[in-house]
Amino acid sequence: MRIAPDHPLLLRIVDDLAAHGWSQQNIFLPEALTRELAGECRKRAAEGELAPAGVGRGPFQEVREGIRGDHIQWLEAGQVEVCDRYLELMDSLRLALNRGLFLGLEDYESHFALYPPGAFYRKHVDRFRDDDRRMVSAVLYLNQAWLPEHGGQLRIYLKNEVQYDVQPTGGCLVVFLSGEIPHEVMPSTRERLSLTGWFRRRGNEPF
Ligand code: OGA
Ligand code: MN
Repeated sequence: MRIAPDHPLLLRIVDDLAAHGWSQQNIFLPEALTRELAGECRKRAAEGELAPAGVGRGPFQEVREGIRGDHIQWLEAGQVEVCDRYLELMDSLRLALNRGLFLGLEDYESHFALYPPGAFYRKHVDRFRDDDRRMVSAVLYLNQAWLPEHGGQLRIYLKNEVQYDVQPTGGCLVVFLSGEIPHEVMPSTRERLSLTGWFRRRGNEPF
C-alpha cells in the first residue's frame, strides 16, 4: 500500500520529527490492516517462528530477559501480502522523511514483536554504539481494545525530565529519532503485539 510522500499524514510526521524529534499518530493504519497484521503475528507465534529477542549487536548479542523480554521475527519482503502492504507504507514514509528532512534513508528493517504478559524492555536508545546507521525508529501497535490498566505503555523520555506515555493501541504509529530519544516498554498484563522498525542510512558494517 503506497501513499504519496506528500500525503498529509506523512507530512505531519515529518513536521513533528523536525520540531520535537518524535511523533504519535493514533490513526495511522486502517483497522482491517491492523487486524490482519495482528493475525499474522499471532499465527507466526503459534507456529513457533518468534524467538526471544537479543540485546546488543552481532557476535555480542545475547538474550537477557532482565533487559528485554519480547519475542520477535524479522520481516522479509515478498513472503506474505499483508506484510508487503505494511512495508510499502513504510517505504512511503521513508521517501517523505528523505524529502522533508534530507536524512538519506536507504532502507528499513523491521520485526514483529510479541511481549508475553509481564515482559518489558528497559530504558534504552535504539542506536548501537558501534553502528550509527539507525536514524528513525517506527513502532506500530497491533493490539485490539487496549486499556490503560493493561500497562505496556511506551514511556518516552523527553528533554527537561519530561516523560510521556503512549498507550499501545492498535493502528497507532510512534516515530522518533533513534539516537536521541530514550524510551522503555512497561510491563503489561496482556500479550502485547507490535511491528517495530528502523529507517537506516548507508554506513560501514563493522562486522
Ligand atoms: C524496541 C522498542 C517499543 C515498543 O523494540 O526497540 O523500543 O513500544 N519498542 O514496542
Ligand atoms: Mn527501542
